[in-house]
Amino acid sequence: MCGIVGAVAERNISAILLEGLKRLEYRGYDSAGIAVLDAAGQLQRLRRSGKVAELESAQRTAELTGRLGIAHTRWATHGAPCERNAHPHFSGDDLAVVHNGIIENHEALRAQLKALGYSFASDTDTEVIVHLLKHKLGEFGDLTVALKSAVKELHGAYGLAVISAKQPDRLLAARSGSPLVIGLGLGENFLASDQLALRQVTDRFMYLEEGDIAEIRRDSVQIWDVDGQPVQRESVQYHEGAEAADKGEYRHFMLKEIHEQPKVVQRTLEGRLGDSQVLVQAFGPQAAELFAKVRNVQIVACGTSYHAGMVARYWLEELAGIPCQVEVASEFRYRKVVVQPDTLFVTISQSGETADTLAALRNAKQLGYLASLAICNVGISSLVRESDLCLLTQAGPEIGVASTKAFTTQLVGLMLLTLALGQVRGTLAAATEADLVAELRRLPTRLGEALAMDATVEKIAEHFAEKHHTLFLGRGAQYPVAMEGALKLKEISYIHAEAYPAGELKHGPLALVDADMPVVTVAPNNELLEKLKSNLQEVRARGGELIVFADGAAEMENGEGTYVVNMPHIHDALAPILYTLPLQLLSYYVAVLRGTDVDQPRNLAKSVTVE
Ligand code: AGP
Repeated sequence: MCGIVGAVAERNISAILLEGLKRLEYRGYDSAGIAVLDAAGQLQRLRRSGKVAELESAQRTAELTGRLGIAHTRWATHGAPCERNAHPHFSGDDLAVVHNGIIENHEALRAQLKALGYSFASDTDTEVIVHLLKHKLGEFGDLTVALKSAVKELHGAYGLAVISAKQPDRLLAARSGSPLVIGLGLGENFLASDQLALRQVTDRFMYLEEGDIAEIRRDSVQIWDVDGQPVQRESVQYHEGAEAADKGEYRHFMLKEIHEQPKVVQRTLEGRLGDSQVLVQAFGPQAAELFAKVRNVQIVACGTSYHAGMVARYWLEELAGIPCQVEVASEFRYRKVVVQPDTLFVTISQSGETADTLAALRNAKQLGYLASLAICNVGISSLVRESDLCLLTQAGPEIGVASTKAFTTQLVGLMLLTLALGQVRGTLAAATEADLVAELRRLPTRLGEALAMDATVEKIAEHFAEKHHTLFLGRGAQYPVAMEGALKLKEISYIHAEAYPAGELKHGPLALVDADMPVVTVAPNNELLEKLKSNLQEVRARGGELIVFADGAAEMENGEGTYVVNMPHIHDALAPILYTLPLQLLSYYVAVLRGTDVDQPRNLAKSVTVE
């Protein structure tokens, strides 16, 4: 999704803006641009379609320098991904705006502004903002006052950064539905849509809240809230090492993040396990009281996070005896929902800024749920701020667009939730909880053992390099794991992949199976194993090639067209977490063989902050 960086300083800020854009590249984008106020007091702009590297090389030639500037990476929504539509957008030659989000009433505003004589150079919704602001500037004379008035006419979502050649002492920002953070320096200040963009220059941040407008000068920051009242926002020190945004020894962020899983799972468990019980207060001080009342769970999420919710449904019903429904947020938010009494509303999100998930939460608040709980990786996100309870996963920044460590830490969080609900409601035997707590403690080691199979999986990936279609099969809680495996493969290798519960094969998809359709299966040693083995025979009988990740005790053997990878033994309840890892590695190595852009796959964005 789009990214914003801005700076007001005593030094040249071009390199800071470009470095900030590079740090936001992981979010996905298709063009980039920068505008700075030069020494002669003129606004200079450079825009390029494609990568930030192209903008950077153009900037080296143009030698764009200045002490006030804004920059942007654009993920096309209105208008094609081309230079003309890239931000910053100008009104005249003295006013520049960059924008994240979508202005829903852009057509009406465009018509009004055209009638006032403004002409449009792009197809974007953003350009209406800059002309509207110019119009207001004519009326009020002061940029801050003009911005306060202009945003009142915008419907939709926006994170805005604004600079003007006429008032070169300030960088302005406005937030509504699209996050913005101010980076605080010494005699210089910065702005970005994600603090990650600014960690090169500061570790002190101030997060804007919904409806805030900020006037950022070199040595001061003034903020007005949604009612136009001056407010102070707390400044916070960020502690995560800046190196988190580096690939280190790894070729891609995705591979680094896959290998970080033992460590981040360990971190997600830290402080949340007692000797033989989950510490319920890990979900917040009111959790014990609220959990005692829960009779149903409704989970809502998108993409990978939705798959985590699908796994949790098996856990919640089987271990804690709680009825659970799971739905993708984009459907839930527009559906007429019948709410069962005493239902806990759970959202799952890596970013905490996914537009559909946030909208679903906001709708749910009107529907009479018992309480809302966010399982999220970003503590300062809108989702966490707007939920009653939260459990933060400790995955650290995830840069690869394809979610890996965020998924496994979400699963850990959801297992903790299952055990906490079962414990408080008395539906889970103390011995079972103690057993699972001990297994959770061993999980990081098991994950390390699974990752040691990296080279084996790399070899297996060769079977896929030339293929166009793949099936993923699983039964029980491994079915969502198969769904996640299929999503990973299609996201980064562009191979068409579908997941099925293995028992469904004979009801249709078996017709697709032939020698060109590899079938990937996850087969822990559980009560469904024998049934799964029969399903696999159905595939082999049609000449389909099988890749099976199986428990050693499952006694499955390599044979003609069958490749078995023996997995470390694990408690069946935790198998979905462990069996995810080889599927992530498989997608990764297939993508590398096919030469795709692993960390920033085409058409995708890391944080989907628009509908
Ligand atoms: C996963 O690999 C995806 N990139 C995507 O499906 C993602 O999980 C989804 O957009 C939800 O994001 P969130 O977890 O930040 O809400």
